[in-house]
Amino acid sequence: MPRLTADRRHLVRFRLNGQAVSGEVEPRLLLSDFLRHMLGATGTHVGCEHGVCGACTVQIDGAPARACLTLAVQVDGAELRTVEALSPAPGVLSPLQEAFRVHHGLQCGFCTAGIMMSFDALLRETSRPTGEEVREVLSGHLCRCTGYASIVRAALAVGAGLAPDVGTVTPDA
Ligand code: FES
Ligand code: FES
Repeated sequence: MPRLTADRRHLVRFRLNGQAVSGEVEPRLLLSDFLRHMLGATGTHVGCEHGVCGACTVQIDGAPARACLTLAVQVDGAELRTVEALSPAPGVLSPLQEAFRVHHGLQCGFCTAGIMMSFDALLRETSRPTGEEVREVLSGHLCRCTGYASIVRAALAVGAGLAPDVGTVTPDA
């Protein structure tokens, strides 16, 4: 493992949503700050900045991770996905995004990007998750305004192939 020194910047190169990106950073720089302030990828939100709220969740090599608990230098050589990767084309929602819209899975939207990145990883692993699996994933996220039932309903609708249809899946399914 290379030894990094605090008094100089280090080159970090990785792929962000399929594009090669790079930057010179101090070893202490958080991935969340690198994404938002240096790369302009502001879809990743920052709430608590200590690993509790889940707002900053991204995928690193396919696995959900807290960008506020990850140093930018740690993702050198990795494949990152952020919420910006979900939409298949400008102005087009992915099935997961559409399900959140249809099932009222968001209000202010502050928590939504992180939740979607966790659900996206779950749905890649398990195309039809149970309510228990969805709630387990959601337990790593805080939402201050929507209430969790509609968020669970949205994820279950995608797993059931129902998105973007409305309303036939209950949170207890
Ligand atoms: Fe990262 Fe809250 S901002 S978990
Ligand atoms: Fe506002 Fe979740 S929709 S915090």
